[in-house]
Amino acid sequence: MAKLNINNEIKKVEDRLQHAIKSSDQTLEDAAFHLLSSGGKRVRPVFVILSSQFGDSKDTSENTYRVAVALELIHMATLVHDDVIDKSDKRRGRPTISKKWDQTTAILTGNFLLALGLQHLSEIKDSRVHNIISKSIVDVCKGELFQFQDQFNSDQNITNYLRRINRKTALLIQLATEVGALTSNASDEVVRKLKMIGHYIGMSFQIIDDVLDFTSSEKKLGKPVGSDLMNGHITLPVLLEMRKDQAFKQKVADLNPESPQSAFDECIETIRTSQSIEESKVISEKYLNKAIKLIDELEDNPNKALFRKLIKKMGSRNK
Ligand code: IPE
Ligand code: IPE
Ligand code: MG
Ligand code: MG
Repeated sequence: MAKLNINNEIKKVEDRLQHAIKSSDQTLEDAAFHLLSSGGKRVRPVFVILSSQFGDSKDTSENTYRVAVALELIHMATLVHDDVIDKSDKRRGRPTISKKWDQTTAILTGNFLLALGLQHLSEIKDSRVHNIISKSIVDVCKGELFQFQDQFNSDQNITNYLRRINRKTALLIQLATEVGALTSNASDEVVRKLKMIGHYIGMSFQIIDDVLDFTSSEKKLGKPVGSDLMNGHITLPVLLEMRKDQAFKQKVADLNPESPQSAFDECIETIRTSQSIEESKVISEKYLNKAIKLIDELEDNPNKALFRKLIKKMGSRNK
């Protein structure tokens, strides 16, 4: 395997995505383009392509690109639906589809993106790919449903949280590394390792996302700081702080969708300045280190260092 030029790879995925969302329906195409052109880190395609370098094909295969594009489309679909569920007005610094069009258009655009993702995969002959992907989509739905059911529930524990983020986020990243490896006929052992690597990266990724929701700025986040708590999503920094501080726990327990903004602001400020932020980062790093350890176990390959570098960069990202 030759050394990858990641920017070139992203460019290839980008061109295919642009092409994929073309539709005979102008509204669906415009709404999909609105999200596609607003940026996004393209994390899942990058991990599909990187993981495919540990198999036996010489060049990145057509099937690898198909999976890379499909996973980004599926990811986009989940974002669109997540914003409908959360009634969010902003994503990636732009109005959400519900805000710019309306809720019905957003729901349909999410379905459209999901279907495009599946269509993209349909030419792949390996039934394992379809099996793994469809199962994961079911689990992502469960993760989002559990998150919805746990809104404003201050009586949940960390195991609960970890199970939820595994479903809603880690699974799709685990899918990227696992199926990426499958598309280049990697051995069972390598596929298994890459799958675990994806799992650990995904867990760390969502914990960082949850920390940034408090510590970053509206400009970098592309949405208001503290959005998670305002939507009733109790994430790791809050759970850790509630364990330490009964008075804070009571304040969180008292929050509800009708609470005044000042009540939310007070809790958000407590978290922003608390030790629980650092403690969450330590937990995220533990997952990342597990991923790095497994990468070290993979056989030598010109892309191993790149893999390590990218996940370290993810650990210190600020958006
Ligand atoms: C956001 O994912 C939702 C999570 C699962 C944390 P990303 O952080 O990958 O979103 P984009 O695609 O870069 O905007
Ligand atoms: C979203 O996680 C995960 C899915 C869309 C399945 P978040 O709710 O943390 O994503 P953001 O913060 O809105 O991007
Ligand atoms: Mg959200
Ligand atoms: Mg988030």
